[in-house]
Amino acid sequence: MKKLIIANWKCNPTTLKEAQKMMVGLRAGIKNNKIEVVVCPPFVYLAEAKKVFGVGAVKIGSQDCFWENQGAFTGEVSPTMLKNLGVKYVILGHSERVMVMGETNEMTAKKVKAVLSTGLTPVVCIGETLEERNQSKTFQIVEKKLRESLKAIKKQQVGELVIAYEPLWAISTNQGLTCAPDDALTMALYIKKLIAEIYGRKAKEKVRVLYGGSVGSDNANKYLENEAIDGLLVGGASLNIKEFTAMVKNI
Ligand code: 13P
Repeated sequence: MKKLIIANWKCNPTTLKEAQKMMVGLRAGIKNNKIEVVVCPPFVYLAEAKKVFGVGAVKIGSQDCFWENQGAFTGEVSPTMLKNLGVKYVILGHSERVMVMGETNEMTAKKVKAVLSTGLTPVVCIGETLEERNQSKTFQIVEKKLRESLKAIKKQQVGELVIAYEPLWAISTNQGLTCAPDDALTMALYIKKLIAEIYGRKAKEKVRVLYGGSVGSDNANKYLENEAIDGLLVGGASLNIKEFTAMVKNI
């Protein structure tokens, strides 16, 4: 399986002009198909992403979406709209949506179902807070979120899934902490074990598990050393196009 590297630009940059510049840089820097590269800009830049990336090496993802396809849902963006814009991947249940916007596992589950039935690939984010880790609740929290977020997913749909293990305490080095590659590996293996338990051994082989949280050119390969980590979800370091493309080339 190809390694999957997803750039999550979060709420950046603030102008279309800057976004265009970043996209053009990314297109120029990512030419090889050895690694699958996905960029997730804010919704407002997705149309531009479609123009810049076309059918090239970089695929397009979005950072969220709604669970209904159309109708009276002010402010929401639907999976079908995203599909029509050339989006292939959708990040769902990101910890920033959970902590800042109050998204629940139930909401994430509805989104995962809608995204899969539209033919897009959900990237479901799962991780524990520092407090939960200190209370030795990591495995319990990860299992709860995984089971609740995938509640509506049938066995035959599960191959299309990507799960990202993103410990909240290691995101943007929020608390000055990073997750050791061995700890990330333990959690990736645990997530795969849960997938096998819920959906069977075949599903485990298909589902890709990524690591995310303060990944940059200095540590990317350390996380990818073990086969069980299928890729990376990169936040801050993906905004620096030079660093990000160099990181991908070095994998
Ligand atoms: P950082 O790489 O900035 O820690 O962000 C990780 C993340 O949240 C990606 O979705």
